[in-house]
Parts: sequence; structure tokens; C-alpha cells
Amino acid sequence: MNYVTLGRTGLRVSVAGLGCGGPSRLGMRDGKSEEECAGIIRSAFELGVNFLDTAEVYGTEPVIGRALATLPRDKIIISTKKKFPLDNPKDPEGETRRSLEQSLKLMRTDYIDVYHIHGVEPREYDYAKREVLPVVQKLREEGKIRFIAISEAFVDDMTHAMLARALPENHWDVVMAGFNILNQSARREVFPRTIAANVGTLVMFAVRKAFSQPKRLREVCAELRKKKLIDAADDEPLAFLLNDGAASSYVEAAYRFCRHEPGAHVILTGTGSAEHLKENIESINKPPLPEEVVKRLREIFKRVDCVTGN
Ligand SMILES: NC(=O)c1ccc[n+]([C@@H]2O[C@H](COP(=O)([O-])OP(=O)(O)OC[C@H]3O[C@@H](n4cnc5c(N)ncnc54)[C@H](OP(=O)(O)O)[C@@H]3O)[C@@H](O)[C@H]2O)c1
Repeated sequence: MNYVTLGRTGLRVSVAGLGCGGPSRLGMRDGKSEEECAGIIRSAFELGVNFLDTAEVYGTEPVIGRALATLPRDKIIISTKKKFPLDNPKDPEGETRRSLEQSLKLMRTDYIDVYHIHGVEPREYDYAKREVLPVVQKLREEGKIRFIAISEAFVDDMTHAMLARALPENHWDVVMAGFNILNQSARREVFPRTIAANVGTLVMFAVRKAFSQPKRLREVCAELRKKKLIDAADDEPLAFLLNDGAASSYVEAAYRFCRHEPGAHVILTGTGSAEHLKENIESINKPPLPEEVVKRLREIFKRVDCVTGN
């Protein structure tokens, strides 16, 4: 496993981070038991993953708690998130404190390494900064949180408008952004700002449906061709990746592409399958795709900032 420094936090993190949310939620979607899901976390740790990302709303904090019972807490970086918008916007302090206490209890720990405000839309950013950030800062002073983060609502904010505003303000140690082969707009809107301010980055949406389901990839590409956002002869403009032997699968190409993007620190991979986990960790640790391939991928999708890969 390769490790990098997560920006100004100074934390040494594995380049592959285990996403405990997303469609699979460690296998909870498919009705796997809490013990089976905890097994995915333990396997990830054995393979060198030291970064776990979850959230109050994913329902996987108890699974992390179970896994941590037999893993060394101090060797693991836990990232979790405060549900946002708040259920009770009139009591940001009370609600945020209760959420954090609940996360600590469920994960059987007394501190969170990286605490986010979750999925903040551009129009909600001012409220998050004014009402929730000061509470999170207090919790950090109390030693319950080590670093403060914000994640974007990529599905509603595919051009990263919230992060483009938030990053110059310098409140955030870590940010989570959507980035993949199809929508590379974070290269323009996010990474130059995180690099300038030495902010840690977590990449979500590397694979999602588009790269794990070839039919969905064709549909998305067909849509982009129709809108004249890509110049391609057919609906399979990425077939060359496999035909030329640059990668053995679209999933592999998708993770490798993200991993070697300048400014990207942790690439989150979400799965409920032990085989996929192993494959994905291998992919994320492979060398970059050949330079001419990366150049071609940048060229094909250079005008696209209106899809997520879902
Ligand atoms: N706004 C936010 O804060 C926010 C929003 C979304 C996500 N996130 C975080 O980002 C993490 C990563 O997102 P994600 O979970 O969607 O991850 P992802 O790695 O982009 O995609 C995961 C999907 O791909 C499938 N998959 C993974 N490996 C595969 C393989 N080798 N072959 C075939 N299919 C494969 C998974 O299904 P299988 O289970 O079958 O492998 C799952 O459906 C989440 O878990 C969550 O922690 C945060």
C-alpha cells in the first residue's frame, strides 16, 4: 500500500480509503450481517488501508465500532460526517453535539480524526459556516475532533461551486470532492485551491455505476454525445482503454486515473465484496495509466461538468 500526507493535517494515509457509504454500504445494501460488513473493514486494514470514511446517515458507524473492537484505534484514521442540513436549524449547537456524541458511542471511540459537515450545497454554505462551523471548532478544542472537513453535494453541485467558495476562506483542513474520468472539473475548480492552501483531499465517485456497469457507461456517453459535450464516433469512446491493453477493466482504469491526479490524496472505494476490495486496492496502487492515455481521457471529457457517474 502506498501512503501520502493528507495536506496540512500531516496524517499519513493510505491512498486507498474504504468508503463505508455509497451504494454498497459495506454490503449492508445486500442484507449482509454487521459481522460480515465488519469483515470488509478488517480485510481492508490487513491490506494496508488505514482510512475509513463514514457518516451519521450511512448507518455504518456501528459496523466500524464492531471492527474497531479488534483493531488498533491509533493506527486508523476515522472520517465521519454531521448530517446536513440540520434537523433543527434553530439549535445547531445542541444538534451537532448530540450527533457527535452518538457517532463516538456507535464507533466505540473517544475522538474523530476528520469530522465533516456533510454534503453542503452552495446555497446552504453560509448557514454551515456561520452556525455549524463554530460548534465544530469548539468540539475540536475539547479534543473530540482532530481536523475539520466539509464534503460537497456532488449530485447537485457537479461544478464544485460550494468548494470553490469555501476553499479560499481557509477554515477547512480536509475536503471531499467528486472526481472521475467523466467529470474532471475538480482539476480546474478544486485541486488548484487545495494545493495552494495545503488542504487534504478525499475523492468520491471514482467508479460508481458508470464504471462498474458497462451498460450505464454507454448510456452516459450516448447522452454526452447527444449534447455535443464529447466528440466521439460511437457510444463507446473508452473502449480503447481495454482494446489497447492500458487497463484490464473500466473499474481499474477509473481508480488509477483518480489516484494519480495531482492534488488527489485518498481515493475512496466503496464495496460490499471482499474480492472487489482486493482488486480495487491493487488498482489504486498500480502505476499511472500511460501518459498518452491520460492525455486522451482529458481531451475527450474536457467540456464535461454535468454528470456524476451515477
Ligand atoms: N457527499 C458525500 O459526502 C459523499 C457522497 C457519496 C459518497 N461518499 C463517500 O465516498 C465513498 C466512495 O463512494 P462509492 O462507495 O460510491 O465508491 P465507488 O468506489 O465510486 O463505487 C462503488 C460502486 O462500485 C461497485 N464496485 C466497486 N468495486 C467494484 C469492482 N471491482 N467491480 C465491479 N463493481 C465494483 C460497488 O459495488 P460492489 O459492492 O458490488 O462492489 C459500488 O456499487 C462512499 O462510500 C462514501 O464514504 C461521500
